[in-house]
Amino acid sequence: MSESSPAGTAGFRRLGRTDIELPPVCFGAYAIGGTKWGGVDEADAKGALLASFENGAAAVDTAPVYGFGLSERIVGSALEEFGSSHVTVMSKVGLRWDDPRGAFGFHGEGLDGRKVTVKRNSRPDSIRTEVEASLGRLGVERIDLVQVHALDPTTPIADAMGALSELRAEGKIGAIGVSNYAANEIEEAQATLGAVPLASTQTLFHLLDRGADFEVLPLVRSKEIGFLCYSPLAQGLLTGKVTPERQFAKGDSRAGRPPFLPENRRRVIECLEQHVRPIAIRHGASLAQVVIAWTAAHDGVTSALVGARTPMQAKENADAARLGLTAEEHLAIDLGFANLTLLPGSPPNFFERIRGRWHRLRYGDR
Ligand SMILES: NC(=O)c1ccc[n+]([C@@H]2O[C@H](COP(=O)([O-])OP(=O)(O)OC[C@H]3O[C@@H](n4cnc5c(N)ncnc54)[C@H](OP(=O)(O)O)[C@@H]3O)[C@@H](O)[C@H]2O)c1
Repeated sequence: MSESSPAGTAGFRRLGRTDIELPPVCFGAYAIGGTKWGGVDEADAKGALLASFENGAAAVDTAPVYGFGLSERIVGSALEEFGSSHVTVMSKVGLRWDDPRGAFGFHGEGLDGRKVTVKRNSRPDSIRTEVEASLGRLGVERIDLVQVHALDPTTPIADAMGALSELRAEGKIGAIGVSNYAANEIEEAQATLGAVPLASTQTLFHLLDRGADFEVLPLVRSKEIGFLCYSPLAQGLLTGKVTPERQFAKGDSRAGRPPFLPENRRRVIECLEQHVRPIAIRHGASLAQVVIAWTAAHDGVTSALVGARTPMQAKENADAARLGLTAEEHLAIDLGFANLTLLPGSPPNFFERIRGRWHRLRYGDR
């Protein structure tokens, strides 16, 4: 990126070494599953998907575990209305709430109050079962990208990649990706795939958590693997709309997370106002749009997967793909957030440790 050239995001980007072309902003369909997000208004959710597709973000990332099938069903309904051939469809395998095998993942609760234990399970037969079920819920004959949602320590990576390779050879999936894998696990996945390209990793990355800058982003840049950035708005915190007073609905897990402590919300908003607002004003954009544009223009990022629950949010997010930040604006945001300190108690790779190390690596003592 040259000093004065725009770090613009409008053009489609190739996903790794595949023939998939993705817009810089894709729709993330986690929140519209409702679970952990305090429920979902299905009409709004479908409207959000359609607004995203109509405004150029015609690519969606979902997973069976989002709402235990509900997210994929809502996506399927939107695809039926919009035309699935115009949309890139990405889903996942490897988190089962309906099969007791595998390693513990997390405790979950369905929208009906049913308690479940989610297992990390990448066994070949489980992957096949999941893909068949996803094809049915999505109403498509092929899923463009299927990603292993999280590493299953009870199944060799080679077994999972082998199962996905077979499904790819059968034409049921177009490309293979992983998610939440460490750098060495990503390398192992690519090695076991041989000549078949590992399309992408889907990894947490946002202005408050730059962990991927250390190993995963350098790796994917050097190996031509796509990088799908998840939670670019830090689940809403980086929109400037999560004020200290905001109450979350019952069942919305954000309420109990350290990054959402009222004092942290206040500090994030202060940082956004100081470092992002002037840039937003210059571009006639919202804070969320500038944050999305910053993320999508970050070196190595193929696309930002952005969640939305209303058509208005989805349109705003899709429009962010056309916002071209200059290199100077990009750097100003980098530096502004590098100096943000949040209260401790956040997850270990959140904020303090990463922020300090990342800042020293990139800027020395500046
Ligand atoms: N692979 C994984 O393990 C993994 C994990 C997490 C996410 N993901 C993927 O990444 C996607 C995005 O992550 P995410 O949904 O966790 O978080 P996110 O995109 O950072 O935040 C989404 C939330 O931000 C708020 N928001 C979005 N646009 C807004 C706007 N324009 N104005 C105001 N508020 C706005 C909404 O929250 P409100 O409800 O408060 O309005 C929305 O639900 C997911 O949907 C999923 O596809 C993957």
